[in-house]
Amino acid sequence: MHLTEEEKKVALEQTGNILESYSRERGNLIPILQQVQEKLGYVPLVAMEEVARHLGMPPVDVYSVATFYNQFRLIPPGKHQIKVCMGTACHMKGGNIILDCWKRRLSIDVNQVTPDREFSLERVACVGCCTMAPVTVIDEEVHGRVTPTRVDGLLFSFGVKIPKGQQKEGEAIGRE
Ligand code: FES
Repeated sequence: MHLTEEEKKVALEQTGNILESYSRERGNLIPILQQVQEKLGYVPLVAMEEVARHLGMPPVDVYSVATFYNQFRLIPPGKHQIKVCMGTACHMKGGNIILDCWKRRLSIDVNQVTPDREFSLERVACVGCCTMAPVTVIDEEVHGRVTPTRVDGLLFSFGVKIPKGQQKEGEAIGRE
């Protein structure tokens, strides 16, 4: 994903501030990456290069660590973050169908962002609302008993209109 010059500038500034409080030991790598993610919401390439410079290691090694751990997000989150619960209760109640529905509607896969950066999609572990399964959390707001039709309704509330033909497809998924 292409970052704007402004985003790169912010990323470098914030990373620089974080690095000030860390010595140049390689053992600091993960805590530093965690801090960067906490500050920026993701760990951009420019930040990884900066961290590598600080710790005196090749950028590719920092990149390998960041991609190895699922906790690190390498691209900026969408304006609206959609998290589909795939905990046991939600899975039993068809969470995978709902996840599939989000993927199709947004035309993105898990851990991706729509090209207009409006939405990002994630799968998450139990969010503690099992009685409402299957659950989708959008920007911290929990939506329970989600069906494909509800997915369309939620998208509609964000101004996304689903073409008529495709709505039927969603309903068909709901009856499976
Ligand atoms: S399994 Fe989804 S809320 Fe618990």
